[in-house]
Amino acid sequence: MISWTFICRVDDIPPLGARRVARASGLDVAIFRSADDQIFALLDRCPHKGGPLSQGLVFGTSVACPLHNWTIGLCTGQAAAPDEGCTPKFAVKVDNGAVFLDAAELASHATSATRPLAGPCQRSAAAA
Ligand code: FES
Repeated sequence: MISWTFICRVDDIPPLGARRVARASGLDVAIFRSADDQIFALLDRCPHKGGPLSQGLVFGTSVACPLHNWTIGLCTGQAAAPDEGCTPKFAVKVDNGAVFLDAAELASHATSATRPLAGPCQRSAAAA
């Protein structure tokens, strides 16, 4: 049985925008709101190079990554062709204007995902 955790009200998420949900471990979860008030939740990490999808532009049921403009489907987390990749999605429940996420998923789903490090590459001791 799913243990739903209250996150926020739908109105707390800007239309065509997103909010981030911090977790005890793992990257944040991005919650998106479409123009027609559908709510979606994805790991806040683009499948390309880890861009923060919560800062992207929402259109229809997709988000454009702010870094290199890949289009990611909000229903599936899948990148639109010709790009390839998928970001983990999270179950969402909306009840009477309140947004809920699955507590078990928040605690365990995709907690090992990381972002690429920015800046110059580090050389290994063997290569130096
Ligand atoms: S990191 Fe998202 S398109 Fe490159």
